[in-house]
Amino acid sequence: MKKKFFASLMAMVMVFGLAACGGSSEPAAEGDTAEGGAGGKIGVSMPTQSLQRWNQDGSNMKAELEAAGYEVDLQYAGDNDIPTQVSQIENMIAGGCEVLVVAAIDGSSLTTALQGAAEKGIPVIAYDRLIMDSEAVSYYATFDNYKVGQMQGQYIVDALDLENAEGPFNIELVTGAPDDNNVNFFFGGAMDVLQPYIDSGKLVVPSGQTEKAQCATANWSTEEAQKRFENIISSVGYGPNGVKLDAVLCSNDSTSYGVQNALQAAGYTADNMPIITGQDCDKPNVKNIVSGLQSMSVFKDTRTLAEKVVGMVDAIMKGTEPEINDTETYDNGTGVIPSYLCDPVVVTVDNYKEMLIDSGYYTEADIA
Ligand code: BGC
Repeated sequence: MKKKFFASLMAMVMVFGLAACGGSSEPAAEGDTAEGGAGGKIGVSMPTQSLQRWNQDGSNMKAELEAAGYEVDLQYAGDNDIPTQVSQIENMIAGGCEVLVVAAIDGSSLTTALQGAAEKGIPVIAYDRLIMDSEAVSYYATFDNYKVGQMQGQYIVDALDLENAEGPFNIELVTGAPDDNNVNFFFGGAMDVLQPYIDSGKLVVPSGQTEKAQCATANWSTEEAQKRFENIISSVGYGPNGVKLDAVLCSNDSTSYGVQNALQAAGYTADNMPIITGQDCDKPNVKNIVSGLQSMSVFKDTRTLAEKVVGMVDAIMKGTEPEINDTETYDNGTGVIPSYLCDPVVVTVDNYKEMLIDSGYYTEADIA
């Protein structure tokens, strides 16, 4: 076992060109390599437990890493609390984790904490969200975030039949946390599809709020999205008997839910709801897709992402090359980070059963 540990340690040293791993790593205990894994302790840092997806991400990662023979230190940073995430990562580094998997709350707040990882030769995988301005990031695994945005934009184009219909149609725009690098891709991808129709006047944004900063929602909060949308409804005069609202671009399900709450409070029902997009297929949102309150969501199967990241961890620990499929898109300010991008899928009332239930992601009862 010792020999094997030193072999993988040497491989890591070679791969990352660093002098040593700083003595914090111990050879893995019994149970090592259940499925040929290299053993050892892996730190997994997740942003919050208050959104369903991160709970799933965390528990999938833990289960799959353990099945591969690793010990897992899984931490959630309260409810998106940056200092908590920083100190949890510092503890992982001090506590002997050999690889870190981090879904950052704020992509730019981990530079100092991760310097400690670099000094100890601990590779860092950015999970779902890119960690910015840090040389310590070795790999990035996520979904194709630009494609997520494009899918949301294209859904609206198709649903309003913008190619043929005369219009104009009224649309409002809601995106996520400004400190989450993914927002640039979600909002950017959607706007690349929608902007030509806004420019031609077929789509109109009556609130006038079209800049990313104006459309952002701190912490992707449902309540914040609801508040902003209540203001938009009253300032524009939207309502079933007021100004017609045709579509709302929402970058994810938590913000979409807030918008739906605001619209319902203004008298909208499943019968006259505008087209509303989302992302994640959170359970309450899938229920609303079935009942007609939300039009679509983008499904990002967290099982696939966890599987890819576990594969990356395993490759790193064994001193081999992780699988990547993108070496161009994600520059974190220190250079392009080799990435693996998983494929997102559009979910509507027409295919949710096949995508979410037949695939075993949810049970019928979950979304009843
Ligand atoms: C993730 C989305 C999620 C959002 C809010 C983003 O970085 O990619 O799936 O909805 O964060 O947690």
